[in-house]
Amino acid sequence: MNYSSIAGTGAYLPRRVMTNKDFEAIVDTSDEWIRERTGIKRRHIAAEDETTSDMALEAALQALQMAKVSKEDIDLIIIATTTPDKVFPSTACIVQRRLGISGFAAFDVHAACAGFIYALDIANRFIKTGGARCALVIGAEIYSRIINWKDRGTCVLFGDGAGAIVLRASDQPGILSTHIHADGRHEELLHVPAGISSGYEQLQQEKAFIQMKGNEVFRAAVGVLDAIARETLSVNGVQPGDIDWLIPHQANLRIISAAARKLDMPMDRVVVTVDEHANTSSASIPLALDVAVRDGRVKRGHLLLFEAFGAGFTWGSALLRF
Ligand code: ACO
Repeated sequence: MNYSSIAGTGAYLPRRVMTNKDFEAIVDTSDEWIRERTGIKRRHIAAEDETTSDMALEAALQALQMAKVSKEDIDLIIIATTTPDKVFPSTACIVQRRLGISGFAAFDVHAACAGFIYALDIANRFIKTGGARCALVIGAEIYSRIINWKDRGTCVLFGDGAGAIVLRASDQPGILSTHIHADGRHEELLHVPAGISSGYEQLQQEKAFIQMKGNEVFRAAVGVLDAIARETLSVNGVQPGDIDWLIPHQANLRIISAAARKLDMPMDRVVVTVDEHANTSSASIPLALDVAVRDGRVKRGHLLLFEAFGAGFTWGSALLRF
């Protein structure tokens, strides 16, 4: 049986930074409200001509460099995104072309903020069953394009960015288990109503932007993240105290703290980037991982728990030995 393990990580954040103060000039909000309710201080916003594939490519190149893997060794690309460059082809195909490689499977996964866990789950299955040996798994999002900049309830919450990993076949695990779930009954609580088959012409109107019932999403996220963490630990016979780092999806510091508290994990064993990046959806976990790997907190051999929750609802987790 093959296992898969993370050989390298990479990240990209757009140069432009928007602080909470900057939002005070746009909507009726305050730095204090945003910090208190979300923990967010600032976020990166893509330039007008910057695309999801631009960001994904930069993150991928960094991950390849850290992994000391040549791009010719890649035989699978999966990109988690809900903000692709084009309706088609997939952003993964665009990144494949821009890397100058071809012939193997490349596709996007659409699972909102849980997208990276979905992509990791799929890549891990490919490698375990011998369908691939070296995968680029990327989360990349430009939510600034689907934000209603007049809606204070959502516009302050999101940022842009990309994170990537190289996932390689290995004799040792690596990925110990992945868990993915969905419950489509809650579609209306968090969605972008416009789509291709349901009103493409609405794409320039309000329906093209994120709509969220924040309170209800908040409650669901806290409950579901606790359940998925317990499911993951129980399958692996692991106690919360065994985990070196909890790396959760970065939507709201209050959600992250509640999830950690329920697991009895002190916050100094939780990687938090929501203050600097805001919610970058499927990019948030690989971005947070890359930050913690590069600043030396996450070390080889550490036991990591990833967990994410997002629109759909979708949610998932992964337990892995880094
Ligand atoms: N500035 C000032 N006031 C605001 C702002 C703002 N930016 N936004 C909302 N308010 C006001 C509201 O209008 C409301 O005012 P009212 O009491 O006069 O009606 C008040 O603040 C409280 O609003 P709530 O929505 O109840 O605030 P809450 O404490 O729930 O925080 C938040 C809102 C931050 C959105 C929170 O609910 C949250 O984080 N939800 C979960 C988000 C999430 O996890 N999303 C999942 C992933 S995203 C994805 O998958 C795409």
